[in-house]
Amino acid sequence: MVQATISALLSPKFGLPKWWRWIQFFIPIGLYLGVLIQFDPIWALAIFVIVWLVFANAFKERVPLYLTNDTTREALKALVKKRRKVRFLDLGCGLGGNVAYMSQLKGVAESHGVETAPIPYLISKLVTGLRGGQTFAMDMWKTELAYYDVVYAFLSPEPMPKLWEKVKDEMHSGSVFVSNSFAVPDVEPTEIWELDDSRKTVLYIYRL
Ligand SMILES: C[S@@+](CC[C@H](N)C(=O)[O-])C[C@H]1O[C@@H](n2cnc3c(N)ncnc32)[C@H](O)[C@@H]1O
Repeated sequence: MVQATISALLSPKFGLPKWWRWIQFFIPIGLYLGVLIQFDPIWALAIFVIVWLVFANAFKERVPLYLTNDTTREALKALVKKRRKVRFLDLGCGLGGNVAYMSQLKGVAESHGVETAPIPYLISKLVTGLRGGQTFAMDMWKTELAYYDVVYAFLSPEPMPKLWEKVKDEMHSGSVFVSNSFAVPDVEPTEIWELDDSRKTVLYIYRL
């Protein structure tokens, strides 16, 4: 208890957000309980490996896995409504839901997604294999954006400035870059769509 309390009190001094206090507090207690019940540490290792296989990009890119909801997919549908033969790309496609959904729309000719976290990639491959679209095990920084008419990203604030450089360099005129929730700093979006879902999703739309 002493160790838990000290670590909880010290954590903000090391620059961690407030909610980390609880994590700091419960780790020593969890370890103590683990010793009491003789918890085999191999399980901790196994859980760590699974978490890493799902969230690998949280460490490397500071982008974890969370998913686009149905309301946002409807908005993407509205975005491509009047277009024809659209080539759609989801940068970091997670479990492949967007790629499969977009592949089923009339105006969409090709729907692709790239993903590097191992477990999401495998699930996305399966989902797109069954429902349509294609998933590639590719780093988003190696994609050729020039091929696509609509590029969608739901990432984090971290990669946005660098990603915008890539978008500007590669995407052709008339194409659209959409970022869910995270605006490009210091760049005025062409449109901002505020969606009527529980998380009040905001789509930042940049027409090149
Ligand atoms: C917030 S999730 C969004 C998943 C999906 N696009 C959706 O909207 O439902 C971001 C995804 O991007 C992936 N990702 C992050 N950096 C990446 C990179 N450099 N190359 C490929 N995928 C990446 C993560 O593994 C994660 O699955």
